[in-house]
Amino acid sequence: MRVHVADHPLIAHKLTFLRDKRTDSPTFRRLTEELVTLLAYEATREVRTEPFDIETPVAPTRGIKLARPKPLIVPILRAGLGMLEGMVRLLPTAEVGFLGMVRDEETFEVSAYANRLPDDLSGRQCYLIDPMLATGHTLVMAIDYLVSLGANDITAVCLLGAPEGIAHLEEKLEGVTPPITLVLGAIDEKLNERGYIVPGLGDAGDRLYGVL
Ligand code: URA
Repeated sequence: MRVHVADHPLIAHKLTFLRDKRTDSPTFRRLTEELVTLLAYEATREVRTEPFDIETPVAPTRGIKLARPKPLIVPILRAGLGMLEGMVRLLPTAEVGFLGMVRDEETFEVSAYANRLPDDLSGRQCYLIDPMLATGHTLVMAIDYLVSLGANDITAVCLLGAPEGIAHLEEKLEGVTPPITLVLGAIDEKLNERGYIVPGLGDAGDRLYGVL
């Protein structure tokens, strides 16, 4: 697995205000979108393109455009939805699939409750988005699911990651070919006994959308 941690003062600045418990939901949503757009810039570094001939007002020239099949963005519900706008802003022609996953707060077991994805993902560049890589169970399950549909090019984008979650991914995804790419805004210190990232930002879904 390739792990890329964004190292940019703008990202660190926005993450600081995202983490702050005084930040209200509208600001939290805006900062999430802005952060994702910055992370998406890194995550799409290897997005597939093809040559495209155009004419400028001065001369013909050859540029590039995004190749087909269109990239697929897959937010993991519910918190991943908060990252969708920021990602689509950078990849407006991408298609969007959905995966609904929930984690049991006692056992940390993850189960899927919904999915809306194309039947065949072979040849598609897939971008999984989920704000928090905590235990890593959700992301492993989501990646396994995409691979079972034929995906062979997967990049996961998360705002924050815990070392335990990254280690879990490394262990479970060892030997998965081609390797998965993980793009993170920051790696935090650890998980606490409730499976929350420390210092983290709390429950991303609650902070985006309010407590259910
Ligand atoms: N999910 C969250 O929303 N926050 C955490 O810290 C861990 C998992």
